[in-house]
Amino acid sequence: MDLKTLIRTIPDYPKAGVQFRDITSLIEHPEGFRESIKRLAAPYRDKGITHVAGIEARGFIFGAGLAIELGVGFVPIRKAGKLPGETMGQNYALEYGVDTIEMHAGAVKDGDKVLLVDDLVATGGTAIAAISLIRRSGATLEDAAFVIDLPDLGGAKKVQAQNINTHFLIE
Ligand code: PRP
Ligand code: HPA
Repeated sequence: MDLKTLIRTIPDYPKAGVQFRDITSLIEHPEGFRESIKRLAAPYRDKGITHVAGIEARGFIFGAGLAIELGVGFVPIRKAGKLPGETMGQNYALEYGVDTIEMHAGAVKDGDKVLLVDDLVATGGTAIAAISLIRRSGATLEDAAFVIDLPDLGGAKKVQAQNINTHFLIE
């Protein structure tokens, strides 16, 4: 199955000139969604992963499926102010300004082997912030898996420069 054909492109969203790669058309397609979870999981079935960490919001969709597929727990990495317990936070740069993502303190710890997942890597800023959070927790970050890489934006190379292996389904 060619998953790329299931990704819809919306011109000029969220602003003029951007070709927005939209995963809603993939997840609305039952076989496409199932196949994307299976392909995300394929390299990790015997790797001793203990947790999948997914980034809000679209990383929750794929991350939850991936955690079930691998038989491990799911850890949400959320935008600031959304998690109810004690959190650890990490700032990251946006085109204009700064944002913060958070993870529950103690959600993963020394000895855990975490797989990070998101729908897409663009500039890599969000993924790098998530990598910092997971590493600060003391857990080992095994790999980062994404449905889509936008190679022109260079994010994957920045993630790999953190000594993280990456897994993509679509470029
Ligand atoms: C998108 C996407 C990634 C991130 C990638 O999320 O789902 O998380 O941007 O961009 P980057 O590599 O340049 O950091 P967004 O922040 O739009 O949030 P959403 O999932 O809540 O829409
Ligand atoms: N699609 C979805 N999310 C994004 C994109 C895109 O094309 N670019 C940056 N974040």
